[in-house]
Amino acid sequence: MSVLSEKVITRDWERPNQNTLAGYKANGGYKAAMKALELPPAAITDEVKKSQLRGRGGAGFPTGLKWSFVPSLEKNPKPRYLAINADESEPGTAKDRFILEKDPHLLLEGIAIACYALGAHTCYIYSRGEFKYPSAVLDKAIAEATADGIFGKKLLGRDFELNVYQVRGAGAYICGEETALLESLEGKKGWPRLKPPFPAVVGLFGCPTVVNNVETIASLPRIFEKGAEWFSKLGFGKSGGTRLVTVSGAVNRPGTYEVAMDTSLRELIYDAAYGQGLPEGRTVKACIPGGSSAPVLTGDELDVKLEFDAFKPLQSMAGSGGVMVMDDTACMVRCLWRVSRFYAEESCGQCTPCREGQPWMARILRKIEEGRGERGDLDTLLGVAAAVAPWPPIGLGTTICALGDAGALPVQSFVTKFREDFEQHIRLRRCPKGDKPWGVFGDFK
Ligand SMILES: Cc1cc2nc3c(=O)[nH]c(=O)nc-3n(C[C@H](O)[C@H](O)[C@H](O)COP(=O)(O)O)c2cc1C
Ligand code: SF4
Repeated sequence: MSVLSEKVITRDWERPNQNTLAGYKANGGYKAAMKALELPPAAITDEVKKSQLRGRGGAGFPTGLKWSFVPSLEKNPKPRYLAINADESEPGTAKDRFILEKDPHLLLEGIAIACYALGAHTCYIYSRGEFKYPSAVLDKAIAEATADGIFGKKLLGRDFELNVYQVRGAGAYICGEETALLESLEGKKGWPRLKPPFPAVVGLFGCPTVVNNVETIASLPRIFEKGAEWFSKLGFGKSGGTRLVTVSGAVNRPGTYEVAMDTSLRELIYDAAYGQGLPEGRTVKACIPGGSSAPVLTGDELDVKLEFDAFKPLQSMAGSGGVMVMDDTACMVRCLWRVSRFYAEESCGQCTPCREGQPWMARILRKIEEGRGERGDLDTLLGVAAAVAPWPPIGLGTTICALGDAGALPVQSFVTKFREDFEQHIRLRRCPKGDKPWGVFGDFK
C-alpha cells in the first residue's frame, strides 16, 4: 500500500489564517521564493526540470521543459507573460479552487518564482467565472502582496518588476484550453488557436507566454524550500511530487485528497483515508480516472497508479485528477449521454467534426437511452466518434483543439468496454435500469 509520506500542497491548509498574508508569512511564507531568487533564472528552470514537476492541468507535460521553450531575449526581445490557468471546468475536477481558497499565497509565491525564471513582468491568473468566493480570496491575497511590496516595482526587494492580475472568465469550459484562454485574456471570443506556434513562442499579444495550471505553480515553493531532489523522490517514475485528486460518485466519502503518485485507483476508492469504499453491497462497475474526457475504466482496472504515465497501457489518462466512480446500479448509456451533452454544449463551433459530431453523438445516445435505439446506431456512434478522434487514442484528432478528443474518447471507451449495456437498451427498447428522473437532464435535444 502506498503512503503519503509528506504533504506538498495541502500541508498548511488547516493552519489558522493561512489564506492571509500574515498567516502565510507566520509559517515561513515567501522564504522559498527569496531562496529561489538567489539563483540565476536559468538555474531555476534547471531545478524545476530536476524536480520532475509535471503539469497538473491535464496533459502532465514536464514544466521545466515547457519553460525552456521560451526563446531567449536575444532571439525574441518581446515581453513575456505567465498565464495561470485557474479555469477548472473539467467535470469531476475540484482541486484548484481549494488552493485559491485555502492557500492563495502558495500560488502567488510560485508565481514570483516562475516569473523571475521566465523574465515575465506580468502574470495573469485566469479564473473560472463561477469561482465567486475563491476569486474574492485571491483578489485579497494579490492586494495584500502588492501592498506589502512583494509584487510591484521590486519583486521581493529585487530589481525586477512584477505585477499580478486576476481576470475572471465568464463560464465557458473552452476558455480552459490554453490558447482559448489567451484569446479571452486579449478580450476576444474564446476560440482556440491552431498550434504550432505554441504559446511559449507566440502567446499573449503575440509574445512568448507560459500557461500553467494553479496546482503546478503552487508546487514551486516546496521545490525551492526542500529541494528538487526531495520533490522528485517523493514522486513515482517520471512524475515528481504528489497529486491532488477529487473522487466523486458512488463512494462513501467523496472529496479532494492529496495522494502519493503511486497510490492506486483502488486505494483511492477504498482506503479509509480517502473514498472509504462503496455503500454495503455495491461494487465498482466503472471509473472515469481523470475528468470526464478521460476514457473510462472497468471495475477490473483499478490497480493502476495515479501517476501520469501509468494510464497509457489502459489507453486512458490521469488528466486533471477528477475520479468519478460508478457502481453496479449505474446505467452506462445514461452516464455517457450526460458526458456527451456537456461536450456538445461546450464546443466552440470552429471545427466541423467537433461542432457537428458532439451533438450528433449526444442525440444518438439520447435515442438509445429513451428506448428508440436501432440496430446500426452503435456503428454510427463509433463512426462519428472516429471522425472526431481516432481510437485507440493517439493524440491526433481532426480538430483545432483537444475538446474534439475530449468528447469522442469517452464515447469510444464506454461503447467498447460496456457494449452489452448499449446493445441491451436497443434489444429491450428501454433502459433496463427503469424509470429515470428525466427532469435533471433539462430539455436538451
Ligand atoms: C477543452 C480543454 C479544457 C481545458 N481546461 C483546463 C482547465 O480548466 N485548467 C487547466 O489547468 N488546464 C486546462 N486544459 C489544459 C490547458 O490547455 C493547458 O494544457 C494547461 O493549462 C497547461 O498547464 P500545465 O502544463 O501546468 O498542466 C484544458 C484543455 C482543453 C483542451
Ligand atoms: S475542437 Fe471543438 S472546441 Fe476545439 S476548436 Fe474545434 S470546434 Fe472548437
